[in-house]
Amino acid sequence: MAFQCPTGFDVTRLRQNVLATYDRVAREPEGDFHFHRGPFYAAQYLGYDPVELDALPLRSTMRFAGVGNPLAIGPIPPGSRVLDHACGAGTDLLLAARRVGPTGLAIGVDMTPAMRACAEASAEQAGLADEVEIRAGFYEDLPVEDASIDVVISNGVVNLAPDKTRVLAEIARVLKPGGRLYLADVVVQRELTLEARSNPDLWAACIGGALPERDLFGLAFEVGLHDACVTHRFDSFRDTSAEAKLSGDLRVQAVNFHARKPGAVAG
Ligand SMILES: C[S@@+](CC[C@H](N)C(=O)[O-])C[C@H]1O[C@@H](n2cnc3c(N)ncnc32)[C@H](O)[C@@H]1O
Repeated sequence: MAFQCPTGFDVTRLRQNVLATYDRVAREPEGDFHFHRGPFYAAQYLGYDPVELDALPLRSTMRFAGVGNPLAIGPIPPGSRVLDHACGAGTDLLLAARRVGPTGLAIGVDMTPAMRACAEASAEQAGLADEVEIRAGFYEDLPVEDASIDVVISNGVVNLAPDKTRVLAEIARVLKPGGRLYLADVVVQRELTLEARSNPDLWAACIGGALPERDLFGLAFEVGLHDACVTHRFDSFRDTSAEAKLSGDLRVQAVNFHARKPGAVAG
C-alpha cells in the first residue's frame, strides 16, 4: 500500500514548517539544526570529493543539507539535461553543471526563495550561469516539460513530501525514455511510531517522513521506474541531536537509490 500520512496530519503546517526550516538554513547556515550541513560533512560522511567542493562557492556548499551523494550513483554525460528537483543552495546542481558542460543544462527547482537566491548567485560566481537555470516551484508539480530530462538528481527531499507517489510520478513524467533517477534519501528499516510520524518538526528534520526502504522500491515500480537498486548507505545523522533523541532504535539511515525509466536513450 502507498505511503500515507497519519489521519489528521496537517499538510499545510508541514509545508510552512519545512519552508521556515530551510529559509533559516539559507539565512543562518551555521545555526542549530537537527541535521548536518556543509562541505566538511559532505566530504567526511557522504564521500564527496573535497577538491570538487572547494572549487564551488562557499555560499552554496555551507548550505548543503543533503543526506547522501546522488552524483556517486552514476555518470552524467556531457551535453545532458539534469534536473535537481529540490536543489536548495545548489551544491549538487553546480557539480552536475560542471559535468554537463556548455552543451548541457542543469535545472534546479526549489520552493524556498532564499535557497534559490543562493543557488543563483553561486552559479554566477562559479562561472556556470550559462549551464544552470533556477526555477521557482514545487516538486509535486514540477515546472519542467514532459520527457525532457536525462537525469533527475534528488538529495534529502522525498522524505519531506506528504504525497510521495505524486513526487515520484512527477520524476517519471519529466524523464526521457531511458532517463535515470539518482536519488539519495532517508529511509527507515522499521516503521516509525505514530508519534514520530505525526511530528512536523521531525518531518522538517528529514526523519518524520522517511519511507521504509522497501516502500521506496514499491513506489518506483508503481510510477513505472525500473532497475531499482540501492547503491550506497550513509549514516547521515551520526553525531546529531536527532540521533541522540531518537536513539539507534529507529535505524534511520540514508541510501543512494538508482532507477531508470524504460525505453531507449535518445542518441
Ligand atoms: C534537505 S534540503 C536539501 C537541499 C539540497 N538538495 C541539498 O542537498 O542541499 C530540502 C530542500 O527541499 C526544498 N523543498 C522542500 N519541499 C519542497 C517542495 N514541495 N517543492 C520544492 N522544494 C521543496 C527546501 O526548500 C529545501 O531547499
